[in-house]
Amino acid sequence: MGVREAYNQWAPTYDADRNLTRDLDALVTRTTVAAVPCTRILELGCGTGKNTAFLAQLGAHVHALDFADAMLARARAKVPHAHVTFIVADLTAPWPCGDQAVDLVVCNLVLEHIADLHFIFAEAYRCMAAHGHLFACELHPFRQYLGAQAMFQREQAQIAIPACVHHISDFLHAATHAGFRLTALKEWWHCDDQNAPPRLVSFLWEK
Ligand SMILES: C[S@@+](CC[C@H](N)C(=O)[O-])C[C@H]1O[C@@H](n2cnc3c(N)ncnc32)[C@H](O)[C@@H]1O
Repeated sequence: MGVREAYNQWAPTYDADRNLTRDLDALVTRTTVAAVPCTRILELGCGTGKNTAFLAQLGAHVHALDFADAMLARARAKVPHAHVTFIVADLTAPWPCGDQAVDLVVCNLVLEHIADLHFIFAEAYRCMAAHGHLFACELHPFRQYLGAQAMFQREQAQIAIPACVHHISDFLHAATHAGFRLTALKEWWHCDDQNAPPRLVSFLWEK
């Protein structure tokens, strides 16, 4: 099953399933992004709008992209605000966003599904105004080395969603190559993660 179809199938239970990674990401995003100055926000892979609801409180305009219709339908219902637009878009093709149109790009738990990081960082750089920020929070590759990946249960089957491993150096290299300057790199554990490698890694870059 491909990534888009998998998320369309996961959509009805994505918010309710037990998922410590999703919950930790929500906490990390709320504690980290609140301090970043922004008015125009672009969210990549918004899913069911878990973080869009928070971003809508921060920005005057929020533009949220995802390629899974069923995930987007849930996001639209959750965040029905006039200043938030949801658009069906594949992040591996040029994004429906103007040059220098936003001052914050946010990306959570998406990049494990995208092989070419260089394209993502180049598009983020193109869409971002000078001195804007890119915040990304992703499954830590240490977890992937141990076999973790996005998955969900359907009836008796465990469905693993196609994913690729990006090492920390891959993120840093692709971002630097696009022109970004790293301002923070943090590793995160859920309070239930005892003696385990970090669950998430977050990055804040500035243009
Ligand atoms: C794990 S969910 C994360 C959703 C949301 N960001 C969150 O933190 O809850 C990953 C999302 O990325 C989207 N996605 C994955 N690859 C994509 C692509 N190439 N283009 C657009 N969206 C994509 C999926 O449809 C899904 O909604």
